[in-house]
Amino acid sequence: MQQASVYLDTHFTIAPVDPRIFSGFVEHLGRAVYEGIYDPGNALSDRQGFRQDVMEKLRAWRMPLVRYPGGNYVSACDWKDTVGPAGKRPRRPEFAWRSIETNQFGVDEFVDWCRAAGTAPMLAVNLGTGPIGDAGQLVEYCNLPGGTFWSDQRKANGHAEPHDIKIWCLGNEMDGPWQAGHVPADVYAHRAAQAAILMKGIDKTIETVVCGSCGTGLSTYMAWDRTILDYCWPYIDYISAHRYSANRDDDTPKFLAEGVAIDSMIEDYAAAIRYVAGLKKSKKKIHISFDEWNVWYKDTRGDGNWAVAPHLCEELYNLEDALVCAQYLSSFLRHADTVKIACIAQIINVISPILTRKEGLLVQSTYYPLEMFARLAQGSAIETRVTGPIITAGGMGEAPALDASATFNHADGMISAFLVNRSLSDPLEVKVALADRSIDHVAGAQIMHHQDVKAANTWENQDIVTPGNVKVHIDGPTATVTLPGPSFAAIQWQTRAR
Ligand code: AHR
Repeated sequence: MQQASVYLDTHFTIAPVDPRIFSGFVEHLGRAVYEGIYDPGNALSDRQGFRQDVMEKLRAWRMPLVRYPGGNYVSACDWKDTVGPAGKRPRRPEFAWRSIETNQFGVDEFVDWCRAAGTAPMLAVNLGTGPIGDAGQLVEYCNLPGGTFWSDQRKANGHAEPHDIKIWCLGNEMDGPWQAGHVPADVYAHRAAQAAILMKGIDKTIETVVCGSCGTGLSTYMAWDRTILDYCWPYIDYISAHRYSANRDDDTPKFLAEGVAIDSMIEDYAAAIRYVAGLKKSKKKIHISFDEWNVWYKDTRGDGNWAVAPHLCEELYNLEDALVCAQYLSSFLRHADTVKIACIAQIINVISPILTRKEGLLVQSTYYPLEMFARLAQGSAIETRVTGPIITAGGMGEAPALDASATFNHADGMISAFLVNRSLSDPLEVKVALADRSIDHVAGAQIMHHQDVKAANTWENQDIVTPGNVKVHIDGPTATVTLPGPSFAAIQWQTRAR
């Protein structure tokens, strides 16, 4: 059997794990809001119309933030349509997904939903078709205590206390030609800077996320980011990155090497930030908000044909998709010093690990990696030095068979490791060697594996791709686990200093 080793030394920390890397995203798209988180009249919903079965599954993810309301939707919407008496809210044609937006769920309902779900809102403002004044007024509506027109409107709408929203996205994917109000980088940079000045002027405690490149395939990739960072530097705290992984050519060896490409993409953003900091001789830290990531290519229906809550982008996920999701999360840990926010896109019905029907839920394979990471990645991310076989990775060329990340929690001595065996057929014996600590015992060891990499949960059988237990052998400061190919394991050890 082939062998790989992971060398860990808890002195070699990358950065504290920011729990916000386990955040989510919900957009007014398809059935994400309506029939997703909000389904009034359904027996599974509460008095506010919030689906309780959905909320329960999402709570297990411990998501600190949920980004809202888009996505492409945000670039042509008017937040003022979404507040006030429900009966007076207008129905609008929704540009991005050619659907009808009823506006029955809006800013206030979303904030209520977040509080009930145990998460916090991260709002995007419209910088496509919307004037920057509207962005400022949305901050006023949400965050000022009262005594001004829009904050008093919020109170009149039943929310006496400010919503206190801390993270604000300055538009969405403004580099994409499909985006309502898409403009060249210098125009967007000016618009975003002016919006941020206004928004921070109204509430100086907020942080802003400027739109970075939304895909490596665009011709402006990184040139856009250099321009935006250069101009907006004083007014922003994060730059966004988006990525959707696809196995369109059914090249699974390449697809399973996605972690290599994700690392490389994050390093591009980190380099752009460093470059501009260098040009400016600035000590300011700007971080990455990876606020859309997922696998997406099987259901790309984007035309709602002017229906309310049409079935769009309802991707079905299998084991290989879950293995790619695990690699996203490991890459975020490996770059814990630069990636501070990341949002799986999305969290319900639309390219989501959870699908709803009137009478229940389907929990897909991709639900589990996020649940495992969010539960076990505590403390600080630590360096993982890996030796082991290199395998052929289809169109990617070659890649290490093992993808690994790890965390150490100084408070309780727990070390967690997240391991993907990329081989489609070969098992891998993985030794995890601790340089500076002894292992007391294995606190938990779970694995996701199936002999068929295309295996998926179905409505009829929801337990086809779920985590099971895996044996870990301890020998002094070394733990050994055999990972069948392909698989993802999350292992936690109780350790002590030696
Ligand atoms: O998440 C679906 C869509 O993907 C979002 O609306 C957009 O930002 C991205 O292109």
